[in-house]
Amino acid sequence: MDRIAITGGAQLNGTIPVSGAKNSAIKLMAASLLTDEPLRLTNMPRLADTRFLGKLLTRLGVQVTESDGPDGQQTLLHAPEITSGFAPYDLVRQMRASFNVLGPLVARSGQAKVSLPGGCTIGARPVDLHLQALEALGAKIDLHEGYVYAQAPRGLKGAEITFPIVSVGATEHAMLAAVLADGVTVIHNAACEPELADLQDCLNAMGAKVEGAGTPTITITGVTRLKGATHAVIPDRIEMGTYAVAAAMAGGEVRLTNARPGLIDALLDKLKEAGAGVEPTADGVIIRRNGHRLDSVDIETAPFPGFATDLQAQFMALMTTAKGESRIRETIFENRFMHAPELMRLGADISVSGGEARVRGVERLEGAEVMATDLRASVSLVIAGLVARGETTVSRIYHLDRGFERLEEKLGACGAQVRRIKGDGEPEL
Ligand code: UD1
Repeated sequence: MDRIAITGGAQLNGTIPVSGAKNSAIKLMAASLLTDEPLRLTNMPRLADTRFLGKLLTRLGVQVTESDGPDGQQTLLHAPEITSGFAPYDLVRQMRASFNVLGPLVARSGQAKVSLPGGCTIGARPVDLHLQALEALGAKIDLHEGYVYAQAPRGLKGAEITFPIVSVGATEHAMLAAVLADGVTVIHNAACEPELADLQDCLNAMGAKVEGAGTPTITITGVTRLKGATHAVIPDRIEMGTYAVAAAMAGGEVRLTNARPGLIDALLDKLKEAGAGVEPTADGVIIRRNGHRLDSVDIETAPFPGFATDLQAQFMALMTTAKGESRIRETIFENRFMHAPELMRLGADISVSGGEARVRGVERLEGAEVMATDLRASVSLVIAGLVARGETTVSRIYHLDRGFERLEEKLGACGAQVRRIKGDGEPEL
């Protein structure tokens, strides 16, 4: 399997264009199941996760065509009819979000059999809220041998759905299912992440009636059919935040473009507090650090607009060489500190207790062989490698390829010494 080698010490100077948001793109792709007309998604990232989902959708009857158009990378998805309502374990386990085909399949064709998901190993990550939402909409749900059987032969019915905790995936899933339900659905305690508003915009362009995404209450008035549309995927706030942290770590000056700084205010505030230069621009942000060491700051992850859990690992990497001690509290997922022992292999001084990590900044990190454990953790190791003395090699980078488009190229264009070592096809133990 491929590995990534980073030779530490180079500053980053240049421009990095931010790609379309992975977490949005994969839910938008699932929306193509809701109509027999073509859905054209522009600003599409090309990632392992979008490829996986494309494979699954093809199996369900969606024609998936990727191309480079005048608007950049785009994907055309067209499902004249649903040819199968079966999403097998092999395809769903590789990516948790593929579970979100369940709702659209039931909404359009009245039945589906979808495997329970896999995905990043960052805690238990159940799907009980997804299933509760579909049941509230009138689907009959049975669980059998690792599969969810869902049926609504007479269609779904609008309902009041109140989530006990905030879940991005369950809110999106409920929205995807409710657009074709008979009557009005109100989702209470909805997630407010920007990807929800993006999904709302796309569904409304397809003829749906959705209001309130981005707030805790979303109202959906069901329609009988949806049509085709063209929709541009929002910029990836996690990719943007990752490169912002990388620039603060390595030093230099990096301009992030094709992005929206307002999507990562919580991170940018923390970077400023730590002493990095942060200058928002019309389509992104400039991050600078010239020579001086950053100060330690504390963070606590929270649902949007709080500090994103998907940027926690990267920020921990940044704090490993800051002055003083930083406390990092993870409140969204249990078991999301698997990057800590790997960062310690590079010389970081970290102790973890329950949902809190304490990072005592060290003068310098030393290159070593480390292993990616999940998607965001893997990029934190690359960030640490940017300043570690000598060479850092990150293995199991299939995690990285799930969510970061052309990472070596983007960092390399700013002067980082990052290269991919092609594997021999042998699985790593
Ligand atoms: C999405 C993002 C992920 C991000 C996360 C939180 C995608 C593809 N992934 O994941 O990158 O880290 O939001 O911002 O968009 N939960 C339940 N029952 C459920 C569903 C969730 O208990 O049915 C719990 C989870 O275990 C977790 C919490 O709710 O503790 C939040 O998870 P959720 O917001 O659902 O995350 P995802 O949608 O899986």
